[in-house]
Amino acid sequence: MKISKAELEKVAVLEKQYPISNLPEFAFAGRSNVGKSSFINAMLNRKNLARTSSTPGKTRTINFYKVNEALRLVDLPGYGYAKVAKTEKEKWAGIINRYLENRENLLETILLVDIRHEPTNLDKQMYDYIIHSGFSGIVIATKKDKLKRSQVDKQISLISKKLGVEHRENIIPFSSSEKKEVKDMWFIFEDMMKF
Ligand code: GTP
Ligand code: MG
Repeated sequence: MKISKAELEKVAVLEKQYPISNLPEFAFAGRSNVGKSSFINAMLNRKNLARTSSTPGKTRTINFYKVNEALRLVDLPGYGYAKVAKTEKEKWAGIINRYLENRENLLETILLVDIRHEPTNLDKQMYDYIIHSGFSGIVIATKKDKLKRSQVDKQISLISKKLGVEHRENIIPFSSSEKKEVKDMWFIFEDMMKF
């Protein structure tokens, strides 16, 4: 897809702050620091439209990016960041869950995991939730550039097993720094929008 326009349309915590539900939305969920905001930048061909950080816990709100006046990419706060107080974690979980459970124009929720690591129990919980909600269950395995090519297959197997992914083609290795997979990823999103 050619990106002719991409903008941060809205930053929200409460439902009343969401933009009107007039466009299909793709939401990206995953642990803090896995690369959700970087993924959005890569897909939109923008360096720093979505703010990223090497310190986990950067995105603490729901950020809606409107693309070509046709769809939105939705950056969610990360979960599972150990150094955050329990009350703060619960607050973020509330923000994420309220969005995922109530958003009528949410077309797909997509889980991101770091290709180098075995998914956590929280990742598994999120993936189960995604499947039970009827989404297609695509998983983006980020930071592919950090692995040797020979290690990729083994990691995909590990991720597939832990999450219980039915078809391993549903796990898509991705590098936001190399951006080689961006075009194919857009084809997948465009296909999803046809249904
Ligand atoms: P939170 O907002 O805290 O939930 O994190 P996030 O999932 O949005 O992660 P973010 O995009 O901020 O990236 C975290 C760190 O990982 C940053 O230092 C990024 O530069 C780095 N990173 C993200 N994607 C990639 C990638 O594909 N390859 C490499 N090498 N680094 C990446
Ligand atoms: Mg982020």
